[in-house]
Amino acid sequence: MSESEFGVKAEKLDAADELAGVRAQFVLDAVSDHAADAAGVYLDGNSLGALPAAVPGRVDDVVRRQWGELRIRSWDESGWWTAPERIGDRIAPLVGAAPGQIVVGDSTSVNVFKAVVGAVRLARLDGADGRDEIVVDATTFPTDGYIAESAARMTGCTLRPVTPAEVPGVLGDRTAAVLLNHVDYRTGRLHDLPSLTAAVHAAGAYVVWDLCHSAGALPVGLDAHGVDLAVGCTYKYLNGGPGAPAYLYVRRDLQDRFDSPLPGWTSHADPFGMRPDYEPAAGALRGRVGTPDILSMLALEAALEVWDGVPIESVRAKSLALTDFFLECVAAYVPPGRVESLTPVAHEERGSQVALRCEDAGDVMRRLIERGVVGDFRHPDVLRFGFTPLYVGFADVERAARVLAETLRGSGGGG
Ligand SMILES: Cc1ncc(COP(=O)(O)O)c(C=O)c1O
Repeated sequence: MSESEFGVKAEKLDAADELAGVRAQFVLDAVSDHAADAAGVYLDGNSLGALPAAVPGRVDDVVRRQWGELRIRSWDESGWWTAPERIGDRIAPLVGAAPGQIVVGDSTSVNVFKAVVGAVRLARLDGADGRDEIVVDATTFPTDGYIAESAARMTGCTLRPVTPAEVPGVLGDRTAAVLLNHVDYRTGRLHDLPSLTAAVHAAGAYVVWDLCHSAGALPVGLDAHGVDLAVGCTYKYLNGGPGAPAYLYVRRDLQDRFDSPLPGWTSHADPFGMRPDYEPAAGALRGRVGTPDILSMLALEAALEVWDGVPIESVRAKSLALTDFFLECVAAYVPPGRVESLTPVAHEERGSQVALRCEDAGDVMRRLIERGVVGDFRHPDVLRFGFTPLYVGFADVERAARVLAETLRGSGGGG
């Protein structure tokens, strides 16, 4: 197919896109803000989601009225105190969880710590003292690996880093907890959450899933697949903003036994009783730690309004169509051998990003960004392009592939 035929195909796909209208709820560059037609294509929502238009007004209200005028009354009257569980319930349907199992707060890293130590403690409560191994995805985003290593030292466990494919083969009587990523941050590979969860359970251990690169991009099915614990960030596909708080999921029937390694006062059964002894609150609330980060939490709450009436299944269908189309355009436009896709072709193994290996990836991404096509570079040789179905369209995808091809040919010209 020629460039103009791909252009026509993009137009048709955009015209048939049932999510096309959601884009208007985001602040994005107008095409005319950039040179030529290679303009303002934001493909970095897998790192920092774009700004939902409702957020600035809400933050202004939270600062000026709730803080500025109501001051301390806002802990009750503006719902500040209950924000972690209220916003957790707003995220819950996006990851297939019934209400009452998610609290928002702290960073992903801190929640990984709570979940991994909590999982080891659950395994030992089951009476299996011999469980002294934590299995971790060896290809994980580094923070998960660092924290799993520290959690292992603190709980007297050995850390076993293996690839997700090797996980079933290393599980056994000694396994206490397993920490896995739903989608690999570098390659965009989607791991098989249902079958890996079942394998961990068959070994009598507990699984923690990191949903950073899947929540808001595809159905997760936490309850349906019996996941024990999960964590995720909210600044990627949930568009919560830079440093937006993360979340922790604790399956309902585990909550009574979940023993957080960070038992702060806001997870106490009677937080204002100021008692010297710790008694955990009932339910998911015991995942809370200290005073909630209200400003970023309420920005996140406003950001989540873009999901009203948006089924995650439609998001997944569009995500796959976008990444298919990008791969198709790249194959047609880019000189042979110049890039190699690390992202699986099979839909059941693909998240919502495309990773292309490219010898001079750092330099290529810098030039792409100069021309308004924003993805990112991961050391040493990976170009990452994230496709957020709520605001990326098919014409964007075609333009991005065309500018990539021009950049790789060294022409850098329009066209
Ligand atoms: C898989 C994964 N886990 C964790 C994090 C980051 O954790 P934190 O929110 O603590 O910075 C990232 C950030 O990109 C990530 O991709």
